[in-house]
Amino acid sequence: MTSDTVSTGTGLERARAAYEAVRAQGLKLNMQRGQPADADFDLSNGLLGALGENDTHMDGLDLRNYPGGVAGLPSARALFGAYLDLKPENMIVWNNASLELQGYVLTFALLHGLRGGQPWAGQSPKMIVTVPGYDRHFLLLETLGFELLTVDMQADGPDVDAIERLAAADPSVKGVLFVPTYSNPGGETISAEKARRLTSLKAAAQDFTIFADDAYRVHHLSPDPAAQDRPVNLVALSRDGGFPDRAFVFASTSKVTFAGAGLGFLGSSEDNVKWLSKYLNAQSIGPNKVEQARHVKFLRDYPGGLEGLMAAHAALIEPKFRAVNEVLSEELGTDGTFASWKNPRGGYFISLDTAEPVADRVVALADAVGVSLTPAGATYPGGKDPHNSNIRLAPTRPPVEEVYVAMRAVAACVRLATEEYRARG
Ligand SMILES: Cc1ncc(COP(=O)(O)O)c(C=O)c1O
Repeated sequence: MTSDTVSTGTGLERARAAYEAVRAQGLKLNMQRGQPADADFDLSNGLLGALGENDTHMDGLDLRNYPGGVAGLPSARALFGAYLDLKPENMIVWNNASLELQGYVLTFALLHGLRGGQPWAGQSPKMIVTVPGYDRHFLLLETLGFELLTVDMQADGPDVDAIERLAAADPSVKGVLFVPTYSNPGGETISAEKARRLTSLKAAAQDFTIFADDAYRVHHLSPDPAAQDRPVNLVALSRDGGFPDRAFVFASTSKVTFAGAGLGFLGSSEDNVKWLSKYLNAQSIGPNKVEQARHVKFLRDYPGGLEGLMAAHAALIEPKFRAVNEVLSEELGTDGTFASWKNPRGGYFISLDTAEPVADRVVALADAVGVSLTPAGATYPGGKDPHNSNIRLAPTRPPVEEVYVAMRAVAACVRLATEEYRARG
């Protein structure tokens, strides 16, 4: 039974009956894991055997031995440089996680300063973040001692007016961390115009820095991405805007090949690459060249290359995004009475906002009928959503049939939580 079949009684009674019908299904579904599905991983199983016994060398380097430096294997720097639209000299290809690289750059800025400036640690540093946003960004920054300032993520990227004001007003505002392409959780991509403003804005801090976590740069759901989804080149724009060292762009293969078992990398100015290499070199002789060589061989040889692989992912993931939009539209309508949601054209998440402040109640109701959702508040610093309305939906991991079932359940929870709230007056 769906909410459609329960046609008598008040709105609240109908919502309760529909919810009880969901409970009777005895579900056990998970819509909170922003992970690839096994079918996505299977696309990259060739990675496991991409190097044979005789593949001991690449770029004239012995993959089995130390020499090679901290910036990564030349072929890997070239490959992932192309990914970020940058030259190999602008790249550092590291180990398995882009978050780790973000942590290193922030930590070294705190300890040593950036661009010849003082260490940030002594300056009560503040960092701008976009909301709703990615909980691990907040965790990382808060763990390192940054005070977080929030600005809204808008349809065409961060609220740059607000960033300009914050950056101009206070030299302890050291930068902004956000997702430029298909943001987590809303799927927004920064426009070229906003990117230009961000890379050229006048900040009180001479070392104001853009930390762009471009985790979903190539994760288009459509084979023919719209112009507004075209990823920007923040490193080149910073140079053109008169601040050549302003931007660090991070990404990884976590949602390309294997999650947490691939490669994290960054692009920035050559001076920033030198700056970071100096500190990385103090703690490591170099990253894992075997893994880098495996990725180079696998991605180069994949039919259609990286684009071919991402198109195969899109074919698996797009129906799941479509399922979320279809069910929410059918069950909740599209006029915003109960909720509104983004319908992104790429990335990994869908951001839903309840019409009333009931996100925590929706998540609790869903949990009680066996549907696990990202905790309410997770998309805001400190886990506190001031509107109690945002819920991050992650449709990539479950099979598409489960996405349909889970989303019907979620819609029933949204209806019930909303009717309960309104009944209380
Ligand atoms: C925006 C964003 N950045 C980074 C990550 C994690 O990347 P990595 O595995 O490279 O640390 C995720 C994973 O969900 C993410 O959504």
